[in-house]
Amino acid sequence: MAQIIFDDVDKSFGDVRVLKNISMQIRDEEFMVFVGPSGCGKSTALRMIAGLETITHGDLSIGDRVVNTLPPKDRDVAMVFQSYALYPHMSVRENIAFGLRLRKMPRDEIDSLVANAADILGLQELLERKPKALSGGQRQRVALGRAIVRQPSVFLFDEPLSNLDAELRVHMRAELSKLQRRLKTTTVYVTHDQVEAMTMGHRIAVLAPLAKAMDSNLMQVGTPLELYDTPHNLFVARFIGTPNMNIVEATVSDDGSQLQAPGFTVAVPEHFSAATRDYRGRKLALGVRPEHVGSPEEADWPQRVELRGEVEIIETIGHEVVLHVRSGGEPMIAKMASHKHMPGFGDTVDLVLKSDEIHLFDLDTEQRLGLPAAEPVAAATGTTG
Ligand SMILES: Nc1ncnc2c1ncn2[C@@H]1O[C@H](COP(=O)(O)OP(=O)(O)OP(=O)(O)O)[C@@H](O)[C@H]1O
Ligand SMILES: [Mg+2]
Repeated sequence: MAQIIFDDVDKSFGDVRVLKNISMQIRDEEFMVFVGPSGCGKSTALRMIAGLETITHGDLSIGDRVVNTLPPKDRDVAMVFQSYALYPHMSVRENIAFGLRLRKMPRDEIDSLVANAADILGLQELLERKPKALSGGQRQRVALGRAIVRQPSVFLFDEPLSNLDAELRVHMRAELSKLQRRLKTTTVYVTHDQVEAMTMGHRIAVLAPLAKAMDSNLMQVGTPLELYDTPHNLFVARFIGTPNMNIVEATVSDDGSQLQAPGFTVAVPEHFSAATRDYRGRKLALGVRPEHVGSPEEADWPQRVELRGEVEIIETIGHEVVLHVRSGGEPMIAKMASHKHMPGFGDTVDLVLKSDEIHLFDLDTEQRLGLPAAEPVAAATGTTG
């Protein structure tokens, strides 16, 4: 069982605190992604699992033992970085075998592990080449090979694909996901790219740069769709999804049944009605994803409200058109499936908004309305990834 548990973990460099109250469980065989903007502490959290950073407070466990003071070499983890750090004078075969030779593994065992890794990674034909004669993607696969032959109980990846061009990155994402499914090795993967996180992770942990008032900078842990459909706070709402979620301020009517936003009025959805009762006459943050704002002709949403916007930007992507409009003085992004009847810049367009797909957040705490009280770490095993 190579589950990894962060139990109330803190990390400070001197008096600068980087991670605060990090509690989560990464399950055995799970592909967990740490995502967040630059400087939020993703690499630091990963390096703590590897044993390359000390833990300032709390406990970190791998399998069933607390590893806080266990040296890296005894943790049975293999790490792959953004820079593959291959030895230029060694062949692919020697690069992959290097760590095993250091451990004085018998020759035939090494040969068989290298052959197996080369097979998995499609490197059979390249084993005698030097790294300089390889493409970026091939070099990345050699770095993976080096990790695979160690047969660790945990893989740790720190932005391993960011040196590759866009097309190769998409290809390698899929390869890595397949590889992990095949080997079933517990994996923690760091990226700042939310699309990479959404496409690869069984679950995702979203980190924010630590600010003074925060109880913790772990913002939410969940499956990609849990984060997308039910962001627990404004940070996650803004971070996950492209284009970004539209967020405007809205006032709750005195009877608690309606929300008055700059360009539209919408009924409070049933599932938010209890939570909005406390906000009667007050302001909230109202979020709506661009795909829930669309053209009245295309959208067959039973619960919808109308709004109008002046077109500021038109992004024609092909399978869809992204319209940036200004509605009631606020920016709003809408999506249309068809480019048959395109508006022009400055045109006023009629739009509809899917009323039952709105998200509501407290403006001060930035927390989603109506969430149950925070779950303890152990309870996080409940949902499936
Ligand atoms: N050895 C160190 N000494 C002091 N501060 C450090 C040290 N290592 C990291 N930091 C700081 O800790 C914070 C988190 O760094 P970390 O590398 O974990 O961020 P990250 O989320 O991986 O960012 P990026 O996406 O840019 O790689 C940063 O503000 C960084 O400057
Ligand atoms: Mg980093």
